[in-house]
Amino acid sequence: MFKGLVGLVTGAASGLGSATAQQLVKQGGRVVICDLATSSGQETAKHLGENATFVPVDVTSEQDVRNALQVTLDKFGRLDVAVNCAGIASAARIYNFKKEQPFDLKTFQRTVEVNLVGTFNVIRLAVGLIGKNAPDNDGQRGVIINTASVAAFDGQIGQAAYSASKAGVVGMTLPIARDLSKQGIRVVTIAPGLFRTPMMEQLPEPAIKQLEASVPFPPRLGHPEEYALLVQSIIQNPMLNGETIRLDGCIRMQP
Ligand SMILES: NC(=O)c1ccc[n+]([C@@H]2O[C@H](COP(=O)([O-])OP(=O)(O)OC[C@H]3O[C@@H](n4cnc5c(N)ncnc54)[C@H](O)[C@@H]3O)[C@@H](O)[C@H]2O)c1
Ligand SMILES: *[C@@H]1O[C@H](CO)[C@@H](O)[C@H](O)[C@H]1NC(C)=O
Repeated sequence: MFKGLVGLVTGAASGLGSATAQQLVKQGGRVVICDLATSSGQETAKHLGENATFVPVDVTSEQDVRNALQVTLDKFGRLDVAVNCAGIASAARIYNFKKEQPFDLKTFQRTVEVNLVGTFNVIRLAVGLIGKNAPDNDGQRGVIINTASVAAFDGQIGQAAYSASKAGVVGMTLPIARDLSKQGIRVVTIAPGLFRTPMMEQLPEPAIKQLEASVPFPPRLGHPEEYALLVQSIIQNPMLNGETIRLDGCIRMQP
């Protein structure tokens, strides 16, 4: 299905990004796995075989992302799709009145730096390479896919930083899609609900059970493969553009 397609996936050592990289390769594409040097990205790439390669990347670094794009060009000759899955979670209330302690500013800044600024950094640099592609019959040169969260819309207690970072990703989706429309590059954001990934598995199993019960249908955490399936549909469907899609089993997070 994706024969000849080249994808770059950030956060691809783990969870949603790893499932996405696997799906792209399974469908005949080739993929550049970008994740922190300390991640298991090397093993992920090895597992996927000759059509995957790992590049250590911190998405907040201009130099790292430029290097990953150079490797993409050298190894695979082009770039068609960039999927932003790198992200971090944080949880704290805006003010701890018992300890008279405000939300740690560094934590807020770091969360926004990785989730929002990192995503922006990858997009602004990746489209330079995608824009070099010859347009297809529709005039399309490529696709950008971002990962927000339902927390962008209904953030829970303690999620001020995380929600702000993800709302930023939702907010920039339309203007960037407009910026890129002349080049035929689409921009679509996925807002996942609750998915079973290492990020989620930090929670104790009873807490996960409780979360699962709060999903109307199906009453379980999403499988990372279900996220990857939406990535595939977005790539395949040229009318999807400038939009954020919730993928959440109808969940609306409670306070
Ligand atoms: N799992 C969920 O339920 C869920 C729900 C909504 C949104 N999300 C979002 O989906 C994305 C993927 O999450 P996941 O659940 O797969 O988490 P995960 O922790 O399993 O994977 C995230 C990956 O991002 C990498 N990463 C972190 N900081 C990075 C940086 N600065 N540069 C490069 N890579 C970096 C990590 O090393 C890790 O491999 C995140 O943006 C997350 O916020 C997840
Ligand atoms: C790599 O991709 C090529 C071309 O699509 C394919 O023929 C080959 O089987 C793939 N290799 C693996 C290990 O998936």
